[in-house]
Amino acid sequence: MCGIFGYTGSNVANNLIFDGLKRLEYRGYDSWGIAILKENKIHQYKNIGLVKKDKDLEKLPDAKIGIGHTRWATHGGVKKVNAHPHISTEKDFTIVQNGMVENFDSLKKQLLKQKAIFKSETDTEVIVKLVEKEVRSGKSLKQSLITSFKKLEGRNTIAILDSKQNKIYAIKNGSPLVVGLSKDGIYLASDSLSFSPYTKKIVVLDDYDMVEIEGKNISIFNIKTNRKKKPEIKTLKYQYEEIDKGKYDHFMLKEIVEQQKTINYATEYTLEELKPLLEAIRRSKKAYILGAGTAGFAAGQIGYFLRTIAGIDAQDVKSYEFRSYLPIITSKDLIIAVSQSGETADTIEPLEILKKKGCKIASFVNMFGTTISRMSDYEYYTNAGPEICVASTKVFTAQSAWGYLLAMSLAGKHTTAHRRLKLLTKSLNSLFTPSSFDYLKRMCGVLKKSEHMFILGKGENSFIALEGALKIKEISYKHVEGFFAGELKHGVIALIEKGTPVFGIIPDDHKDNENKDIISAIEQVKARGALTIGIGSEQYSKLKIFDYFIPTPQINSLSSIANVIPFQLVSYFLSLQLGNNIDKPRNLAKSVTVK
Ligand code: M6R
Repeated sequence: MCGIFGYTGSNVANNLIFDGLKRLEYRGYDSWGIAILKENKIHQYKNIGLVKKDKDLEKLPDAKIGIGHTRWATHGGVKKVNAHPHISTEKDFTIVQNGMVENFDSLKKQLLKQKAIFKSETDTEVIVKLVEKEVRSGKSLKQSLITSFKKLEGRNTIAILDSKQNKIYAIKNGSPLVVGLSKDGIYLASDSLSFSPYTKKIVVLDDYDMVEIEGKNISIFNIKTNRKKKPEIKTLKYQYEEIDKGKYDHFMLKEIVEQQKTINYATEYTLEELKPLLEAIRRSKKAYILGAGTAGFAAGQIGYFLRTIAGIDAQDVKSYEFRSYLPIITSKDLIIAVSQSGETADTIEPLEILKKKGCKIASFVNMFGTTISRMSDYEYYTNAGPEICVASTKVFTAQSAWGYLLAMSLAGKHTTAHRRLKLLTKSLNSLFTPSSFDYLKRMCGVLKKSEHMFILGKGENSFIALEGALKIKEISYKHVEGFFAGELKHGVIALIEKGTPVFGIIPDDHKDNENKDIISAIEQVKARGALTIGIGSEQYSKLKIFDYFIPTPQINSLSSIANVIPFQLVSYFLSLQLGNNIDKPRNLAKSVTVK
């Protein structure tokens, strides 16, 4: 949450920072700001809403050094005054922050007693005031930053523009920070994707690393160990020149359609490449799969495949609910972390604790060089390319398909898995035809009148019901709940009224009794007047119990991966008809780096 971008070099910083912030907007998009340094004077621009140019921004003089920020509000509402950067009283330095100062209240109270004057409601301004106090006591800005940073609790990363020395300083803790080294200068950002067009050479900072950037040079000093560090330069595998929507109106639709390829990219791993992890799983007493949100549902899907296909004792755990498992997890257990961003605080926290316990960590992440992959003993990547829409689509199916490949490989069926996954992606085009889109759009025209909807799934589709509901609620803002179909008669059925839309996921590869359960659940809601929508095997489309039916490709136990796609499309078309901001839904951020 929140994006930081900085640049010093021979090019005009203003445009580079603006473009960088556009690429970082997915991390937070309620307000933003830029500070540039020209002839030892800091010039700032702030605004609320999306990153876009206006006359005032154009008035900033062209400069060769500056920092910028996109905000996801934590302390203080969405107001210009709360947008970053936050400048010092003497206007000699300005700060942007990603994270949350957890001891904000007590620090602010102390500072107020010492007569500090605050203009904003942010925790960032508390950092500014702490630094000012240290500077007034005679310390250098660098030393003041170090002393002040050590007083902050929580995961915080800051970048500072220093007008006196023409430098950028940054200190990382928890929230990510990457340096990009290019011929024209130095880039600094919350992710490497935001400066991807300019360089593939990166330095990933560790917690408590302080980077000092002057012209085209960097030096790193760890404020915890008090040691200088030689920058460890890595070269990224992929470089993205342009991250655009192509022929699509929204990243979401582009990313949904891309699944015809990305499922294969995620599962190209050879047996040789998977071997270290397969052996670790076999050696482990139990495999715990951790994730949050959509990644948490993918963890559920991976666990299901590991148990049912490979007979592995595997348990998915919501990463933010891991504490109750702590008394039973031992160093003999293996942890598999699933994350798109690789920076989710809820997932990093248990990994830190479990690593200390001696557990081996495997991860399946989409972004390169992130905290989660760098903590891992076994590092695997989704390879799905940038996922820009806040709602995760292609990464969810990539994660689930990888789980299927893992389970099949453990069961000695690696080649069969590859063949089936290829078959699946080939057959997905039936979901993306103009007639299929027209059908969904007509159906969404009816759904948009309902405030509540329900999704029922069973077995392999249990987590698909939960993920389908999350997908629709994230963008349409409708109340959609996914349930394990078995729950219906135990309470959920009380919610069904005349016209309530109920989706039932019904594949053809389940054991008969499982499909019978779904059919009887749909009959029960139909009898109470529900509007019923079937998703799954075409053979059930003829049943009189469904008002609408969306057939999906059925390839052995892979149909669950196909079944989630209609929910993604319903989410898209419904939200489009409702006029919502599809790629940047309200209140959300792509990367949840705060607790
Ligand atoms: O980056 P991660 O995959 O770790 O993120 C986890 C969740 O925050 C994320 O899946 C979230 O639920 C998405 N907005 C879902 O579309």
